[in-house]
Amino acid sequence: MIEGIDPDSIVYLNGDFVRLGEAKISVLDRGFIFGDGIYDVVPAYHGKPFRIDGHLGRLERSLAKVGIHNPFSRREWEKLVLDMLARSGRGGDCMVYIQVTRGVAKRDHAFPSHVSPSIFIMVSPFKRVQQEREAGLKAIAIEDERWLRCDIKSVSLLGNVLAKQQAVAAGVDEVIQFRDGFLTEGASCNIWVVRDGTLLAPMRNNLILEGIRYGLMEELAAQAGIAFQARQISCEEVDSADEIMMTSATKEVLPIVVFNGQPVGDGRPGPVFAKLREGYDKAIKAAEQA
Ligand code: PDD
Repeated sequence: MIEGIDPDSIVYLNGDFVRLGEAKISVLDRGFIFGDGIYDVVPAYHGKPFRIDGHLGRLERSLAKVGIHNPFSRREWEKLVLDMLARSGRGGDCMVYIQVTRGVAKRDHAFPSHVSPSIFIMVSPFKRVQQEREAGLKAIAIEDERWLRCDIKSVSLLGNVLAKQQAVAAGVDEVIQFRDGFLTEGASCNIWVVRDGTLLAPMRNNLILEGIRYGLMEELAAQAGIAFQARQISCEEVDSADEIMMTSATKEVLPIVVFNGQPVGDGRPGPVFAKLREGYDKAIKAAEQA
């Protein structure tokens, strides 16, 4: 029995819908042996997926970037996600975790010639953040020690795991990573900075995972009349930012109010956050009613 896990929940594994407690995979799966696989996390509100096209598009790109065969068309992926949401019986807020590994083969670093990908999907409930919206989060700066293909949503997450643990060890909520003195991202989120009313984000490149909320935040900023700029952001600019925010599928958008032990701005969630948060809530409502 694993804490926090319902062994009776239904998961999808390689064509079958089975109980989580009975889902089994070979120890020779390359996801287990090499971390040779990719994943995505799609949030769903009241049983309806949010921004599914963005998530499935990124899943397809991740597969293509690592040369794993994509067994399904966009429509088939979408059908599978909707089917899983229906079967999970969770009409509430949940996340759909999709993982595709290269498959099972004799251990050899090179790609096997005949292999079919292993596909796993599970649906878990998630609690929408509320308290953190008002209180805000604390974060510390750390050196980004991950690889140079952070644009791939790879299951090889050891660098991210070690980064997150530094936050836990320091008693804060999140880490903000820097490479060569410039902002990259959090352990499992994108980071946003506000200076003089402009929303800033690191450029989309191989040093960050482009969150599905990246494009969404751009849209919300435009709707709210907030200037947006993607560019290199230095350590010093984050230190003296008026506001800092983080975004991810499950945390949505949250303010970071303490950075390296110092208050960000006046130490409370700022006005740009408030506008983006409002826009985000409206986007969720619109998707639920669509
Ligand atoms: N993480 N950067 C990293 C390294 C991430 O792991 C994530 C998401 C993001 C934000 O992406 P999105 O807005 O599409 O959620 C950025 C997911 C939620 C996870 O690993 O559970």
